[in-house]
Amino acid sequence: MHYRELGRTGWKVSEISFGAWAIGSAWGEVDDKESLAALHRAIDLGVNFIDTADVYGMGRSERLVARLRKERRETIYVTTKAGRRLNPHTAEGYNKANLTEFIDDSLKNLETDCIDLLQLHCPPPILLYRPEFFALMDDFVRAGKIRYYGVSVEIVEEALKAIEFPGVQTIQIIFNMFRHRPAELFFPEAKRRRVGILARVPLASGLLTGRMNRHTTFPRDDHRNFNRHGEAFDRGETFSGVDYEIGLEAVEILRTLVPPGATLAQLALRWILMFDAVTCAIPGAKRVAQVEDNCHASELPPLSEAQMAKVREVYDSRIRELVHQRW
Ligand SMILES: NC(=O)c1ccc[n+]([C@@H]2O[C@H](COP(=O)([O-])OP(=O)(O)OC[C@H]3O[C@@H](n4cnc5c(N)ncnc54)[C@H](OP(=O)(O)O)[C@@H]3O)[C@@H](O)[C@H]2O)c1
Repeated sequence: MHYRELGRTGWKVSEISFGAWAIGSAWGEVDDKESLAALHRAIDLGVNFIDTADVYGMGRSERLVARLRKERRETIYVTTKAGRRLNPHTAEGYNKANLTEFIDDSLKNLETDCIDLLQLHCPPPILLYRPEFFALMDDFVRAGKIRYYGVSVEIVEEALKAIEFPGVQTIQIIFNMFRHRPAELFFPEAKRRRVGILARVPLASGLLTGRMNRHTTFPRDDHRNFNRHGEAFDRGETFSGVDYEIGLEAVEILRTLVPPGATLAQLALRWILMFDAVTCAIPGAKRVAQVEDNCHASELPPLSEAQMAKVREVYDSRIRELVHQRW
């Protein structure tokens, strides 16, 4: 496992980290024993950074991560998120009283007295135009409840706006072989400001592992079933916003680029790591075998210029029109 500096935090985090949404909720049935085994395997393989949120199973994911931390001696940085318990989800809801409650609940679930990194969970964009809100976040840091904070965003423009606030240490954004636009304007600017980048949905919800086909079915409580068209939350979070059948066709071409002995999931993750502005990819995983597959991406040699060009060609010819100007 290789490590990268996370913005200005002074932390060196594993370039393949762990996304803990699926072990909480919205990805079909999960077994806590299996999830915990997957988390442990990740730590065995050098992962030292975990992304979770209060809403992933309403504390279930956070509590599993707390258990993991108790069972391990290694330093494990944990980032959680706040905001999505608001209903309705409005900028006004991001006030001192609500944030205090969300933070206190996460502190309890994570069994800690300070959150390493708190991310605002895709807040309404108007919040990014309220400096008084970011002053409030600075107060939480001063009070010692959170060490650092960052913002998880849906679109590139939100990322560019959020990093104008000097307290913002990280941006989490969708970036993968089916989502290229963050690399254009945002990456150079984030690098210039030394803001860490967490690349989420790196496997396009599993599509980029090449393990799915036309006949694959998903359980009722899996967002790949119930959110394909954005029925429950932003469409971009499911298969990266790409139509499933079109995605499958593109995957067949990408499959030809996989080096001998490697997997498509590893190629997809290694492609992300080719961008040095990215701090880490945070693939979700529910099982030990998935963690092993994903972590080995860090050991793959850099992709060749020809491989990079082919990925770009597949994106330009099949995917760009569907996603490029949307997010
Ligand atoms: N708004 C936000 O802030 C936000 C939104 C989305 C995600 N996130 C974060 O980003 C993380 C990653 O995104 P994601 O989980 O949505 O998508 P992802 O990482 O692209 O896909 C994860 C899913 O792909 C499958 N998978 C993973 N590794 C595999 C492998 N090696 N071989 C075969 N299948 C594999 C697993 O599902 P199956 O086994 O069921 O196929 C897994 O749950 C999340 O866990 C979460 O921490 C944050």
